Amino acid sequence: MIPSYANFGGKIHGGILLSLMDKVAYAAASKHAGTYCVTVSVDGVNFLQPVEVGELVSLLASVNYVGRTSLLVGIKVVAEDVRTGLVKHTNTSYFTMVAKDDVGKPTTVPGLSLERPEDTRRFLEAIKRREFNAQFNREFNNARTDLAIEDSLHLLEAERCRISY
Ligand SMILES: CC(C)(COP(=O)(O)OP(=O)(O)OC[C@H]1O[C@@H](n2cnc3c(N)ncnc32)[C@H](O)[C@@H]1OP(=O)(O)O)[C@@H](O)C(=O)NCCC(=O)NCCS
Repeated sequence: MIPSYANFGGKIHGGILLSLMDKVAYAAASKHAGTYCVTVSVDGVNFLQPVEVGELVSLLASVNYVGRTSLLVGIKVVAEDVRTGLVKHTNTSYFTMVAKDDVGKPTTVPGLSLERPEDTRRFLEAIKRREFNAQFNREFNNARTDLAIEDSLHLLEAERCRISY
């Protein structure tokens, strides 16, 4: 990680790591699909520890799941202090990618060969992730639609905000 990747606090910008992750997700997805791919959504971007200038960042990626045209790529990011050999896990995120054909339409991807028990666990976890996300999106959209502002104002009493209109 070179100095120009740092923010004003001297740590590496989250955006630099996200950009690297997006590229790695693309590489893993397009290699499996044999086509161009696009990023559709990203899950689980929580930066657990800062990355320092000078650390060696490695991104470990695998295609965990395939649907018909989509692929879920899991990416683990680790940063190593090369002087001490200390390796820290900074985040694990999941990129949903979609394979595109030559005219830009989603296209079917090859099935996934599960070669180790670990692969099966990841595939099954991805199914759960998909189910939970769909359920969350449904419930959150309903909650948003049903949100009655006037009836909910008491929730703001414990919050650090002040209505000033
Ligand atoms: C992603 C995109 C191809 C979906 O197009 P669509 O016409 O809605 O296609 P479909 O409904 O057939 O969805 C295609 C696949 O994407 C999945 N998908 C669509 N939206 C999704 C989302 N928000 N999260 C996860 N998966 C999603 C679908 O489940 C489907 O997967 P499957 O074929 O494995 O079952 C389209 O929205 C797109 O091109 N978006 C822009 C992507 C892009 O440019 N990214 C770069 C960053 S700007």
